[in-house]
Parts: sequence; structure tokens; C-alpha cells
Amino acid sequence: MKVLLLNGSPNQNGCTYTALRIIADRLKENGVDSTLIQIGRKPIVGCLGCGACRKLGRCVYGDDGVNAARDELEASDGLIVGSAVHYASATGALTSFLDRLFFSRPNGCLRMKFGAAVVSCRRGGATATFDQLNKYFTISQMPVVSSCYWNMVHGFTPEDVLADKEGVRTMQVLADNMAYLVKMRAAYKEPLPDLPAPQVTNFVREDLLREREG
Ligand SMILES: Cc1cc2nc3c(=O)[nH]c(=O)nc-3n(C[C@H](O)[C@H](O)[C@H](O)COP(=O)(O)O)c2cc1C
Repeated sequence: MKVLLLNGSPNQNGCTYTALRIIADRLKENGVDSTLIQIGRKPIVGCLGCGACRKLGRCVYGDDGVNAARDELEASDGLIVGSAVHYASATGALTSFLDRLFFSRPNGCLRMKFGAAVVSCRRGGATATFDQLNKYFTISQMPVVSSCYWNMVHGFTPEDVLADKEGVRTMQVLADNMAYLVKMRAAYKEPLPDLPAPQVTNFVREDLLREREG
């Protein structure tokens, strides 16, 4: 069993990393492996919506880590996305990264992989960022793992994060719950239920347009 940890902060060893490290250590204590991917400081281009991934099965931008993360996610039972809070949102690079990671996946491919977001801020904007990140999971049939508080730590330095005792405990409880759920899922042998046929209904109804045009 393995959980993928994604650090969306440009700081490799900063506050978000510190929160993810706490989680990785706790997962290990629970007998669950983890892999940490750092988005780092490279420019990450946003999704073009070109749809090439639908044919290729991968994003056309091949070398900035999105496709590698996609392969890693494929082999993982859960995903924990960490972000520093930038202007009450996820970092710009992480948003671009996740847009492409999630858009380039075939439908249903993430189904029943567990997801969780953790955010690090100095002072405010944590819950807005948390809500933003959770939306990637809830459109992808990924059950969201919760903790005993919204998954946030506060700090400007890693030392601040470690001093945020409630934040540290929130990360530990999240890791415990994630470990419990991935083990439970691995033990459950029933196949996933069949899904209804796909439907794509845009909010433009052609019959009404035709009616209006006469
Ligand atoms: C561009 C930018 C915007 C930021 N915006 C916020 C913010 O809206 N709210 C906040 O509390 N902290 C904000 N911060 C501070 C960081 O979110 C905070 O220090 C975080 O813990 C840093 O995590 P890191 O070390 O993993 O990068 C901002 C920092 C930067 C560089």
C-alpha cells in the first residue's frame, strides 16, 4: 500500500513539506509507504484544454513532472496534496499541475483512490485553499479522508509549523485515517459497482437555441 504526497509549494523544505513529512512518518508507523513528489520551482504550464490527452493518454507537455506524477498516482492507493496558501488559494504552479494531472486521466481512473488536501498558511486563507483542493477529489470519485480539524498548519518557517501542536496533531490523525482506509480498501475484495452510461450535458441547450432562432 502506498500514498503519493505532492508538495505544491516552491519551497522544497518549507512549511508544507514539514506537514507532509509528519504525515509520511506517521504513515510509515502505520505500515503504509509513501512517495513525495516536489513540484519545485520549474515553470508549470497551465492546461490548454487541447484534449490531446484523450488520445495520447498523457499530457502533451511531457517533461515538467505532470506525467511522472500521473504514473506514480496510478500505482498509489491514495493522494495527499499539500499547498502553501498564496493569496488565499493554492499556489499557481500547483493549480496548473493539478488541472493537467486530473484532466489527462481517463474517466474513472482515480475511482476509490483516497484523497486529502493539506494547506500551510501564515495567517489566513487556509479553508478557501482547502476547499479549492478538495474539489479535484470530489469530481474524480475519490473519497476524501478527513482529520479532527480542517487539514491546515500555520507558519512562516518549518519551526513555526512544528510549534503549531494542534496542526501537527491534525496531520497525524489524517495520516492514521488515510492508513486505516487504504488498508480497509485493500482488504475489501468486492468489485466496484457498474456506473451509469456517461452523460455530458453542457449548460447550452441546442433545442432552446433553435427555438429562439426560429
Ligand atoms: C505569494 C505569496 C502569497 C501568500 N499569501 C498568503 C495568504 O494569502 N495567507 C497567508 O496566511 N499566508 C500567505 N503567504 C505565506 C505562506 O502561505 C506561508 O508562509 C506558508 O506556510 C509557506 O509555506 P511553504 O514554506 O511550504 O512555502 C503567502 C506567501 C507568498 C509567497
